[in-house]
Amino acid sequence: MEQRQQWGSRYGFIMAAVGSAVGLGNIWRFPAVAYENGGGAFFLPYLFAILTAGIPILILEFTIGQKFRGSAPLSLFRLNKKAEWLGWWQLLIAFVICTYYSVIVAWAIKFTIYSFGTQWGSNPESFFFNDVLKRADTAGTIGGLVPGIVIPVLFVWVVALFVLYRGVSKGIEKLNRIFLPVLIVMFLVIVIRALTLDGAAQGLNAFFKPNWDMILDGKVWIAAYGQIFFSLSIGFAIMITYSSYLPKKSDINNNAFITAFANSGFELLAGIGVFAALGFMANQQGVEVQDVVSSGIGLAFVVFPSIINEFPGMNGLFGVLFFLSLVFAGLTSMISIVETFIAGVQEKFNVSRTKAVLTSGIAATVISLLFATNGGLYLLDVVDYFINNFGIVTAGFVEVILIAWFFRGLNGLQSHTNAISDLRIGAWWKFCLSVITPIVLGYMMFDNIRQNLRENYGGYPTELILTAGVLVVVLSIIIGVLLSRKKWNANIALERNKEVA
Ligand code: ALA
Repeated sequence: MEQRQQWGSRYGFIMAAVGSAVGLGNIWRFPAVAYENGGGAFFLPYLFAILTAGIPILILEFTIGQKFRGSAPLSLFRLNKKAEWLGWWQLLIAFVICTYYSVIVAWAIKFTIYSFGTQWGSNPESFFFNDVLKRADTAGTIGGLVPGIVIPVLFVWVVALFVLYRGVSKGIEKLNRIFLPVLIVMFLVIVIRALTLDGAAQGLNAFFKPNWDMILDGKVWIAAYGQIFFSLSIGFAIMITYSSYLPKKSDINNNAFITAFANSGFELLAGIGVFAALGFMANQQGVEVQDVVSSGIGLAFVVFPSIINEFPGMNGLFGVLFFLSLVFAGLTSMISIVETFIAGVQEKFNVSRTKAVLTSGIAATVISLLFATNGGLYLLDVVDYFINNFGIVTAGFVEVILIAWFFRGLNGLQSHTNAISDLRIGAWWKFCLSVITPIVLGYMMFDNIRQNLRENYGGYPTELILTAGVLVVVLSIIIGVLLSRKKWNANIALERNKEVA
């Protein structure tokens, strides 16, 4: 058996954890989610979700990984034999996410290149949907592979798998130590430039102006929780896996606070930058900000090119900075997502890291090509919506219920983390995990199911919703349970204390 890998330093671990958290979710998703869910009023559920679920679950996952020193299924198995299936379920959610996440990173690479000479021309919308994606006219048709997307997708996978093959400290840590600081500098340049454009204040006003009527809508709360889970990389095996490479004496609580605040800080920065730029565009066109806002995918790949077209100067440079930021943020997160199942496969099937990287990496690459087809965008939208709003949120709910109520594991985990952390966590942590989060998440899930039964998400055809949405979520649970039935190699199941301290 290979010796368990370890982060080179505390700084390296924090860089990797923040690199995982800061991703497409912060730049591509957050600004639009916040705007669609009440603008300034969204910050209340968002802050509530961070304080009662985000940070407590992050501390929980860091503690589980650091204490039990295994991939998510193995760590949960060591916590309680009956919890292993949950680890597999979360790991499979990560598997599904990385198959489309890699495709968005691939689009961002293409757009970085298109930025030279603003090659998207004067109609970025048609350019993105027709020329780049060659999108099918109707949702639900798959069509054929689009070679212009397949090639960058394969490139993204080769890079990611190479970094993962290099290992935890020589691959993942090294990449994050370079990419994260560069990302922050690039992004600060963009935000500062956006804030100095005409109309920026109008954009910020639209972003921060609260729409209090929406605060009582369950949908807004689920959006806030969904955003926090996705953005903080919690509820889908990542942070358990990453913290399992921490040495025996490592701070946990402080690291969790640093990771969560860094992530939200970046998210807020992205919101400010994006809306300042939207304000500029609205100002140029003499329209209201709401007329130029568009949701997730469109915001980054349609609206941004249009904004860049209208920049007073150095258009190409800003295009490169923006899309390269998406590539850097996306790649560091994608690597953390893929690491979850490489670690799981390696331990369950007792194979070398290289074999685990190759087998599971190739499987994920092949599946990701489904999103590089003419119908890929529709598929991506449905899978992303369902795996986040039902997969991650439900898996997070089951995680807190099982650990807090069924296994009564919180006391032991609290003593463990307090014994090694600079900052001690108190009763609020247990109260959030055992009472507040289960109640809010439980209610939200119920409300969300009710709303989704009433109308199809995005008005998509029912077959597409049932296959790409419901079936994917259900299969991740079933396959998770099946994988947990396979026995661990006896040495691996018991091994825990032999690693280097
Ligand atoms: N946490 C990652 C993101 O925000 C997955 O994109």
